[in-house]
Amino acid sequence: MSAEIFNKANALLSEIQEATPQTKDELEEYRIKYIGSKGLIKKLFGEIRHVDKDKKREFGQLANSVKKAAEAKFNELKAELEAAADQDVEVPDLTAPGEYFGLGARHPISLLTNEIIEVFNRIGFTVAEEREIEDDWHNFSAMNTPEDHPARDMQDTFYLKDSTKMLLRTHTSSVQARMMTAGEPPIRIIAPGRVYRNETISARSHCQFHQVEGLYIAENVSFADLKQTLLYFAKEMYGASKIRLRPSYFPFTEPSAEMDIYWGLKDETDYRITKGTGWLEILGCGMVDPNVLKNCGIDPERYSGFAFGMGIERQAMLKYRISDIRYLFENDVRFLKQFEGAM
Ligand code: DAH
Repeated sequence: MSAEIFNKANALLSEIQEATPQTKDELEEYRIKYIGSKGLIKKLFGEIRHVDKDKKREFGQLANSVKKAAEAKFNELKAELEAAADQDVEVPDLTAPGEYFGLGARHPISLLTNEIIEVFNRIGFTVAEEREIEDDWHNFSAMNTPEDHPARDMQDTFYLKDSTKMLLRTHTSSVQARMMTAGEPPIRIIAPGRVYRNETISARSHCQFHQVEGLYIAENVSFADLKQTLLYFAKEMYGASKIRLRPSYFPFTEPSAEMDIYWGLKDETDYRITKGTGWLEILGCGMVDPNVLKNCGIDPERYSGFAFGMGIERQAMLKYRISDIRYLFENDVRFLKQFEGAM
């Protein structure tokens, strides 16, 4: 009888030694099965009453060693599992460099516009911003553009649906009319903004683009003032040594001119972009037509003024060597990122 119970104890010991609980749950099962208050070890101690008297002491020692082995194994595995759980918690590396939040990039159109604004700010021009949805009067009539002028054509201008009076402004010259009707001379503003024309989109032209308009109205403003202002601009903006004014025609100025800056012919690109002349056309300008002053309620006998208007896209393309105007409107981050950090 005793031998059988001893065998049972030894079998239990090897069972415990071989047990391999892997998870917290399995370890708990192990504890309940062997060490728990209703577990096999408790039962084993109960067997002592069936053991022969002279063997009781020996059996007690054996049962105790089974119990110790079971408990030791439990404690060891418990510690191991806890250590592993601790490792699973990610401890942040406080010495690691911070995450990089990329600097935003200004759009090349904004970069160039801001530069132009700054140049004119320095000689007293303030920024005037106006609406992009204009009426026919401010965009065309006030600016001395006759009813039958081709620019007014549906083919060239985006009119609002069901309207022959409201349109997307075709030039920032509409801001001239807004400023002159709203205020008294002296008026000295530049008006940057977006304009729209019904044109086929290609590498060279787009149906939306940007202009900067300039207007100076006061007493005794002369063509010489216009010339000096533009020369200053060409020097500050492009480092150009000279400008030239070619006679031209615009309905809202008389006389009218186109201004070229001397770009130079230093390399092959200069030959290409200036068509071998060294001169680059930058803007249209002129003395404000007395009709325009009259239309806008300003006395042409007392006041005179000059105006100019320039496109931004072509200047941005020149400055940043952009080959296709469409890049400027696609908002592709791979393109925009190249201007990161530029002011
Ligand atoms: N509005 C003209 C255009 O869009 C540009 C222009 C030319 C503006 C002469 C002016 C000016 O103020 O005087 O082509």
